[in-house]
Amino acid sequence: MMISFKFHNYKILDSTNNKAIELAKKKLHDIAVIAERQTKGKGRFNRQWSSDIGGLYMTIVLKVGDLDKTKYLTFAAAVSVAKAIRKTAKLNALVKWPNDVLTGNKKICGILTETISGRENYALIGIGANINQKKFPDSISNKTTSLAIETNKRHNIKKISKEIMKEFSKLYSQYKKNNYNKIIAEWKKYSHTLGRKIKAKTMNKTYTGKAIGVDDDCNLILKLNNGKIKKIIEGDIFTV
Ligand code: BTN
Repeated sequence: MMISFKFHNYKILDSTNNKAIELAKKKLHDIAVIAERQTKGKGRFNRQWSSDIGGLYMTIVLKVGDLDKTKYLTFAAAVSVAKAIRKTAKLNALVKWPNDVLTGNKKICGILTETISGRENYALIGIGANINQKKFPDSISNKTTSLAIETNKRHNIKKISKEIMKEFSKLYSQYKKNNYNKIIAEWKKYSHTLGRKIKAKTMNKTYTGKAIGVDDDCNLILKLNNGKIKKIIEGDIFTV
């Protein structure tokens, strides 16, 4: 059974993830929280997410079982965004480990998944996609792009959000059947990362090598320059 998600739309929020946490605590789920802009958009590792008008800021609220499995939902969200971009803008969108979407080697979407644990568990999948912005802060402008920059026209944010949720619903039904391998396979199909020489920065070390795979738990497998195989569980990667 495919789930249909109800949209909760806001003009402005501090962060759609924060609003999603608030709503999940009231036991709401299977909803997508959207804001036209955010005053405190959050990125991974406590970074801030540039959240001016023109972007898509959306958080999917799901009631889940095992919190260890939420990384598949993050993968599923990245694939859904890549597919939605391909369909609406005819661009070659690809997923970058662990949870970005790129077009033309530049970041067009980032995903921040948070969880609530308790008697009931929730996953909050926060998606930030650059749609109609024409400019970004200097600090990120050389590695960031938007649909408007790539296609020279404006796009309908609502339509893209619906397309993302349509794709996500399909992958989410696989997730609910424990078909995590299907999600990994889809992610691999759209991967920008696999086969590339990369640098992986983890909490305490940097590794350089070739990305040769992702395992069943969404970890990145690197073949280091010295021939050793290294599993990367968390961190940021850069192509070299
Ligand atoms: C990253 O690349 O570091 C992840 C960025 C995630 C940004 C989105 S925008 C919607 C949702 N609300 C937030 O505060 N963050 C996520």
